[in-house]
Amino acid sequence: RCPHRGVPLALGRQEFPGTWSCWYHGWTYDLADGTMVACLTDGPDSPLCGKVRVKTYPVEERLGLVWLFVGDGQAPPVERDIPSELLSQPNSRAGRITVRPGNWRLAAENGFDEGHAKFLHRNSLWTLLRRMPAFSRTHVEPTEGDWITRKTTAVGMEEIDYPGLGTWPKRDWWRQRGGAPVCSIRLPGCLRIAYPGWTHYEWYVASDADHHRYVQLAAKFTVGLSAWWFKMRYWTYIRWIFHGLFNDEDAVMVETMDIPPERLYRPDVSIIAWRKLCERPR
Ligand code: FES
Ligand code: FE
Repeated sequence: RCPHRGVPLALGRQEFPGTWSCWYHGWTYDLADGTMVACLTDGPDSPLCGKVRVKTYPVEERLGLVWLFVGDGQAPPVERDIPSELLSQPNSRAGRITVRPGNWRLAAENGFDEGHAKFLHRNSLWTLLRRMPAFSRTHVEPTEGDWITRKTTAVGMEEIDYPGLGTWPKRDWWRQRGGAPVCSIRLPGCLRIAYPGWTHYEWYVASDADHHRYVQLAAKFTVGLSAWWFKMRYWTYIRWIFHGLFNDEDAVMVETMDIPPERLYRPDVSIIAWRKLCERPR
């Protein structure tokens, strides 16, 4: 934030090479070391010049995104934190970035949460034609590229008898499409949902304790006409129905859930596996 009146410097613009000017009153900082080199709206003889400084961070650009290192010490190679297939295989990508209320770890846990899609997303437009099981049994395995992946071992589909209550869920005739996507998660807070034909990625980047930057990316590993066609699909419906409506259902949960205390159930093996990964010494 700008030390003057606390406006986020991300809102600024560039007036001179190698500098960045705050959007509000034009305090202008050297990009290399964060020193304020001009107070544009106080004239060239501003007494504050050189006396104010903001912290700077190393950045790299990959996949059309700017990757920022906020840790201490030397930044590790950015490639270590990016799913390797996105860097090594040609792909067609599109996505969006929003700031959502809620702690990043709750967002990550929601992403990898095994049980919620079957209930929370059951009536979403995105899943309208998809057969949704009542429950499944899962375990979590390490998979290539530093991921952990949910593996389904058994599924209970529809019209399951819940003793004393009746059957659930109804078998809706219009739901025909089957086949669950493959869901994986890895540090630093990156989720991957592999659908047949294309893949959704999302990153949860902590802004503060109660907000995170939610980066959504849809990618298809292809080139040429098929790459162009995927972008068309993204902009005509995937963005609005999946990245919008569907993931907004998750956003409400991440914002409103309040833990601890919590009482976990069998499908939460996914959440426990992710927590173990986070706490693993490295
Ligand atoms: Fe940044 Fe005033 S708040 S220049
Ligand atoms: Fe979800």
